[in-house]
Amino acid sequence: MLNLKIFAGSSNIDLAENICAHLNIKLSKLNINTFSNGNISVEILENVREKDVFFIQSFSEPVNRNIVELFVAMDALRSASAKRITAVIPYFSYSRSDKKDAPRISIAGRLMADLIKEAGANRVLTMDLHSDSVHGFFSMPVDHLTAIPIIGEHVRKNMDLSSAVAVATDAGGAKRVGRFVNFLNIPMAIIDKRRINDVKVEQGLVVGEVKGLDAIIFDDEISTGGTLLATAKTLRDAGVRKMIAAVTHPVLCGAALHNIKRSEIAQVIVTNTVSIHEENRIKRLKVLSVAPLFAEAVKRINSGESIGALFR
Ligand code: R5P
Repeated sequence: MLNLKIFAGSSNIDLAENICAHLNIKLSKLNINTFSNGNISVEILENVREKDVFFIQSFSEPVNRNIVELFVAMDALRSASAKRITAVIPYFSYSRSDKKDAPRISIAGRLMADLIKEAGANRVLTMDLHSDSVHGFFSMPVDHLTAIPIIGEHVRKNMDLSSAVAVATDAGGAKRVGRFVNFLNIPMAIIDKRRINDVKVEQGLVVGEVKGLDAIIFDDEISTGGTLLATAKTLRDAGVRKMIAAVTHPVLCGAALHNIKRSEIAQVIVTNTVSIHEENRIKRLKVLSVAPLFAEAVKRINSGESIGALFR
């Protein structure tokens, strides 16, 4: 019997229940209310005194509401004398704000890391942050999981890899794709990308051999799908044979579905770090579960075992 409790906010109850099912425990109970003025209140309905508590919340739509829900819940858990609180954030959306690349802007990823600590977290468990540097924003232990083994195993079982190449949609994604190609033992290519605005990107040079090969576009998230669409066009012009995409976080906002449908990408492999609306569950989307990996990580944090060993 594990000596821990798992609670969840409203962002991804299915994933939370799945993680609990893998651990053979019940999701603990709480009440989340919204007052008429929009304020959020959270009431913990179980004793957590001296308990090792995990609170699961993805920073998915409605992002800012879900973040405040996490803050208020962790504050309530701390007031209720939880021994240790781990903020389990399968998708940490503000990690895209990780550098000062324009004058007078906030590095909001860093701000969020500070606020998570201030709200009561003692540690963080997350997956595939936009960049490794975000890990360093937290002044507490962070366990940073990757979906590479889950996605990689699926690709290995379902695709002929003899003519495959993995493609990074921009230079920033090169390290991530480097780890993916190491897992699959295939070559990689990198595309030169510039973001014009939230929905529009421009791409240029393809660095690496792609002509006549089957491309696996590998990225951390699909937001509006602008990057995927541009990448598919760039690869088509560069003479790629077939292409699929593999992406950890299916944010799928704005014109994402429309962009996926009009692209030549045969399949988009994603995970369930973000809950996918029924209308977005199109045939071309293959959803893999990260619940077993999160469950194992929770168990190891609770018992003080290595998480790194999971990926070696
Ligand atoms: C960008 O650097 C990321 O790795 C993703 O490529 C990006 O967040 C995807 O956004 P969108 O789908 O809106 O192009």
